Amino acid sequence: MHAMANAPADAKPPYYLPTANEVEVFSAAYKQKLPLMLKGPTGCGKTRFVEHMAHALGVPLITIACHEDITAADLVGRYLLTGGETVWVDGPLTRAVRQGAICYLDEIVEARADTTVVLHPLADHRRELNIERLGESLHAPDNFMLVVSYNPGYQSVLKDLKQSTRQRMVAIEMGYPLSDKEIEIVVQESGIDKARAADLVKLANAIRKLDASSLPEVSSTRTLVSTARLMKEGLTPRAAATAAMLLPLTDDSEITRGLGEIIATYLQN
Ligand SMILES: Nc1ncnc2c1ncn2[C@@H]1O[C@H](COP(=O)(O)OP(=O)(O)O)[C@@H](O)[C@H]1O
Ligand SMILES: [Mg+2]
Repeated sequence: MHAMANAPADAKPPYYLPTANEVEVFSAAYKQKLPLMLKGPTGCGKTRFVEHMAHALGVPLITIACHEDITAADLVGRYLLTGGETVWVDGPLTRAVRQGAICYLDEIVEARADTTVVLHPLADHRRELNIERLGESLHAPDNFMLVVSYNPGYQSVLKDLKQSTRQRMVAIEMGYPLSDKEIEIVVQESGIDKARAADLVKLANAIRKLDASSLPEVSSTRTLVSTARLMKEGLTPRAAATAAMLLPLTDDSEITRGLGEIIATYLQN
């Protein structure tokens, strides 16, 4: 597991361009102490949005990258043996509650079901974290907020979030930004000019229109930004798009060839 604290409060706020009313919904949920879920495909800006909001609200951020082996103890804490002594070490969720932070569980559907049990009393009106091993129950301070994200496209493969958990939360649906905004994001994040960013966004939108059965995922805003960054280093648009947009998407040689043709259609060199 991987948990990080965010940058010091005086650092420059992470750049985030709102695409709908997500800033208002997040702020209202924070003020009303409601937990939040962000739904959206990979690379659409979920993590960046949470980083931006934590900074804007002036609240520390603790991010937990979930995976299938995460247990409740990983979140809450455990006794560790150090130099013949057992010492209790808070997990990232407990630290977030004690400290009054935004706790962001990234890709929560990949976490095991027993971890969501510990989230229930935190997510409802009790706002309580039960630390069974310590026989302690912590009441979350006002500036604690639980935020989870997941990719709804994976729901059929991975186990669903329990209804009882879902209905305790408010939700924001995120998708790839509309063209004008996505162009602006690519320019801002990479420093390439607007005309070349516009070509990349057109290409991405063409790939996004392909039959879903040929590709498990489509080109995300993230892969557009990576492509633009390679171009900033002097790679041709086609070479950059092949390296950062095409090849990461698929290992299938026929689909690779097809996507290569689309790249050649949309990018001049
Ligand atoms: N609305 C946005 N404003 C600014 N940058 C964005 C936005 N959406 C996507 N990005 C860019 O895309 C990248 C990937 O976004 P990220 O938040 O990591 O996606 P997710 O968490 O949904 O997988 C970011 O690092 C950033 O460069
Ligand atoms: Mg993310």
